Amino acid sequence: MNEDFPQSPDVIRDESELEACLTQPRPELVDFIRSVSSPLLILGAGGKMGPTLAVLAKRAAQRAGHPLEVVAVSRFSDEPSRQWLEFHGVSTVNADLLSRDAVQKLPDAGDVIYLVGLKFGTGDNPSLTWAVNTLAPAHVAERYAQSRWVALSTGNVYPFVSVRSGGAREAHALTPLGEYANAAVARERIFEYFGRKNGTSIALLRLSYAVEMRYGVLVDIARKVHAGEVIDVTSGYFNCVWQGDANEMILRALPLASNPPAAFNLTGPSVLSVRAIAAKFSELLNRPVTFVGRETDTALLSNTECLCEKINPPVTSLDTVLRWTAYWVKSGGRFLNKPTHFEVRDGKY
Ligand SMILES: NC(=O)c1ccc[n+]([C@@H]2O[C@H](COP(=O)([O-])OP(=O)(O)OC[C@H]3O[C@@H](n4cnc5c(N)ncnc54)[C@H](OP(=O)(O)O)[C@@H]3O)[C@@H](O)[C@H]2O)c1
Repeated sequence: MNEDFPQSPDVIRDESELEACLTQPRPELVDFIRSVSSPLLILGAGGKMGPTLAVLAKRAAQRAGHPLEVVAVSRFSDEPSRQWLEFHGVSTVNADLLSRDAVQKLPDAGDVIYLVGLKFGTGDNPSLTWAVNTLAPAHVAERYAQSRWVALSTGNVYPFVSVRSGGAREAHALTPLGEYANAAVARERIFEYFGRKNGTSIALLRLSYAVEMRYGVLVDIARKVHAGEVIDVTSGYFNCVWQGDANEMILRALPLASNPPAAFNLTGPSVLSVRAIAAKFSELLNRPVTFVGRETDTALLSNTECLCEKINPPVTSLDTVLRWTAYWVKSGGRFLNKPTHFEVRDGKY
């Protein structure tokens, strides 16, 4: 990985440039990381965000001269992710957090980031979604009752709100539609319950759509435009945030951990229109675009002002991410093929 890769290059040509870009710490993070205690434990680190989050923390610590061990815990269903983490100096531990025994054997840690979740496949096996989103938090919240926590949640905990509202704020009622979203509410409530019971300091981050080149709502739209597919604008609005910014904000949210636990929305600052984004990709990809449907005046949207007042807002501009995405799609970059299904309106995933 190129240590001096620019934070905001003109284009991202391949996965090694993408990984370098996502794991390049900004000076604010390098300063901050000195306050993180070793080891930093990242639970559920084998998914879409965990590997680059863990390596970002490790690189920030190396730059700061801070001897921080970063320990990534997951089942590592994707073995190459585990190898990639080890290669970049992150220790890995294979563990299934549904097993209380396995959780007991994990190393002690003062600072914990929790990324475990299950969304897709809920329609076929809702019981697994509920187990992963409730039992695993219960096991780890008890095991790390004395630690400082950032636990990931999702903007899906809110119901649809009026597009004109600018997005749900943190005090909005958590009354979403569908089993996944309700299991995500339960994930928060389990952390809150154990937090209150044991006096644990926890910040819950309700993330809406991290994006990078290999997955995310922007890539989903760009690929459709590139393939000449009709764009349905019924679910016409969304928020998203560059994954490098989201990862930095997750780490820097550790001092926001409190008791009782508090929740913060994490996403980009603007409400984005599917129609406008598809039109922009049509221009960047030099492909015509056709639309179907009419925008509904409600959408799954979050207002992130509260978090942005406490930590600086995401720094990567939308124009930059659109340019990177168009280049990636045009040049045949690799995709995870994990569509976001951002168009879903009935809560079924
Ligand atoms: N990415 C987004 O755009 C987005 C948007 C909204 C909210 N979020 C939230 O942010 C969190 C992180 O996002 P992500 O995209 O990285 O999620 P992800 O790709 O689903 O990664 C979570 C990882 O947790 C691990 N895991 C699941 N069950 C486990 C278990 N029983 N024991 C140990 N590990 C387990 C899985 O890896 P293994 O198979 O290796 O165990 C999984 O890949 C998620 O919890 C999600 O709710 C993400």
